Amino acid sequence: MLMTQYGYLLMQSMHFLIKGGNISFSNDSRLAALRGGSLHLDALNIFNGGNLLRQNILQVNMTGVTGKVKFNPDGNLIHPAYDIINVIGNGIRRIGYWSNYSGLSVVPPETLYSRPPNRSSSSQKLHGVIWPGQTAQKPRGWVYPENGRHLRIAVPSRVSYCEFVSQVPGTDKFAGYCIDVFTAAINLLPYAVPYKLIPYGDGVNNPSCTELVRLITAGVYDAAIGDIAIITNRTKMVDFTQPYIESGLVVVAPVKKRNSSAWAFLQPFTGQMWSVTALFFIIVGAVVWILEHRLNDDFRGPPRRQLITILWFSFSTWFFAHRENTISTLGRFVLFIWLFVVLIINSSYTASLTSILTVQQIFSPIEGIESLISSKDPIGYQQGSFARDYLVNELGIHESRLVSLKMPEDYAKALKDGPHRGGVAAVVDERAYIELFLSARCEFSIVGQQFTKNGWGFAFPRDSPLAVDLSTAILKLSENGDLQRIHDKWLMRSACSLQGTKLEVDRLDLKSFWGLYLMCGIACLFALFINVLQMVRQFSQYNSLEVASSGRSSTSARLQTFLSFADEKEQEVKSRSKRRRLEMASYRNETMDGYSSKRQDIESPPDESPHASNEA
Ligand code: SER
Repeated sequence: MLMTQYGYLLMQSMHFLIKGGNISFSNDSRLAALRGGSLHLDALNIFNGGNLLRQNILQVNMTGVTGKVKFNPDGNLIHPAYDIINVIGNGIRRIGYWSNYSGLSVVPPETLYSRPPNRSSSSQKLHGVIWPGQTAQKPRGWVYPENGRHLRIAVPSRVSYCEFVSQVPGTDKFAGYCIDVFTAAINLLPYAVPYKLIPYGDGVNNPSCTELVRLITAGVYDAAIGDIAIITNRTKMVDFTQPYIESGLVVVAPVKKRNSSAWAFLQPFTGQMWSVTALFFIIVGAVVWILEHRLNDDFRGPPRRQLITILWFSFSTWFFAHRENTISTLGRFVLFIWLFVVLIINSSYTASLTSILTVQQIFSPIEGIESLISSKDPIGYQQGSFARDYLVNELGIHESRLVSLKMPEDYAKALKDGPHRGGVAAVVDERAYIELFLSARCEFSIVGQQFTKNGWGFAFPRDSPLAVDLSTAILKLSENGDLQRIHDKWLMRSACSLQGTKLEVDRLDLKSFWGLYLMCGIACLFALFINVLQMVRQFSQYNSLEVASSGRSSTSARLQTFLSFADEKEQEVKSRSKRRRLEMASYRNETMDGYSSKRQDIESPPDESPHASNEA
């Protein structure tokens, strides 16, 4: 027999009292004063040893079947601990413990008291629970309150693009991407939602989703799921969940391959880039000529020959084939920078031209929604889609230009026929459908940018808590990757090899290279500046000699002298100045000699014979 600890305590205390022989009861005046009426409380006696019994209990200090039993001065059990049991049918199973010290744990609290308290979430665990029905799966609690009836959820019964949603033929079941997303989301709700899917549409045409949404406000349906785009008109009537797929409007048009033109070699650079490049060839040629002209015989000669040298030198650097030697340090510096620039420009040109000639270029007369609006050609749209209203109301396209298309095959035929044979110039539809459409048709392509940002969601009446809970569930699906897995299951198609080919040639623009040209320009200016400084310094030396010898000092004469100085070979200038310096030195010597002999003549008498002077 199992004896509880409290029972055991009571027995102990009674034993103590009996041992003392003091069990007595007496009337209590307070009970008589209560006048319990029919309860006859005045007939009750109270136990006289009650206080003694209480004291005895509080003094207990023993180890019972569940551990230590001891009370604190307040009468509370020290280190209370509880077993957490899982009741399974008629039996029980301990799945852990709870104590004030350690919280939930699978380790007995007695063991934990000897360790430092640990309330971390990893330690707060229990063994698995077996739930009624012998299952380890947590019950979801309450059921969505709809007065016991199933939610009537409408599903558009599509006739095209059935990968998104369609009724399984011969059954009342539905299948498709949207259905799988809905099922996965509703399974994540913390409660069960009994529902019934009801087909909407005649099964011959694609139904209008706007009409379907309207029926929710009319109370015909409790919700609608499927490829329902979240657009302003509809959000005014119902609440949508978070979008579970992105799907904006795009333009699809037939595209043709472009044959590379005879002038393809000009395409890598823009006109501006070509002009600046040519200009820099000439600038660098001129700068190197200035820097070399006075030192290098390759850059000298008659003016016509020099002009040809400048052009030939600079343009041959494009192929690193220049023959002229650069002698001056500054000239070599400028040429080094320029050859680096040429290297970059050259390799960019080669890479771009290769891609232009090898990557297939495709083109279409329709380049996007703008050119479609401005043309007068018919435009196709999906039957039942909001695209029609958008084209008419938002983009102002006349209704007479719009052609309703049902099946993907109708899209293809209308696009192939083109506007001149009763077809359409382009189709405007949501990207989700178009990606499926294009997966098997390489002769068409999305042209221009997606021009609306939409998504698909599930529709619920206004303020429905289900819309909020399903939104959370959709976000969970998106975060755990399930949404992508469902997408890949239904909508993954091998893309057409033409997709991703370019409609526009990417030409290299000046903005990618201006840094290079700036660097080269700065190098040229710097070299020119140093060169001019050197020339001016030399000229001031040379000029002083020239002026001294010629005696000309007017400004125009100086300028003329400077220009002819700048044109002269440095070697010649140097040797001439040297010669002149020598001449001047000898002249000075001669003058000095003449002067001293004159002085001697003056100082010695004319009749004095040399002999006499020698003697002197
Ligand atoms: N997705 C389209 C719409 O919402 C067609 O069903 O109108």
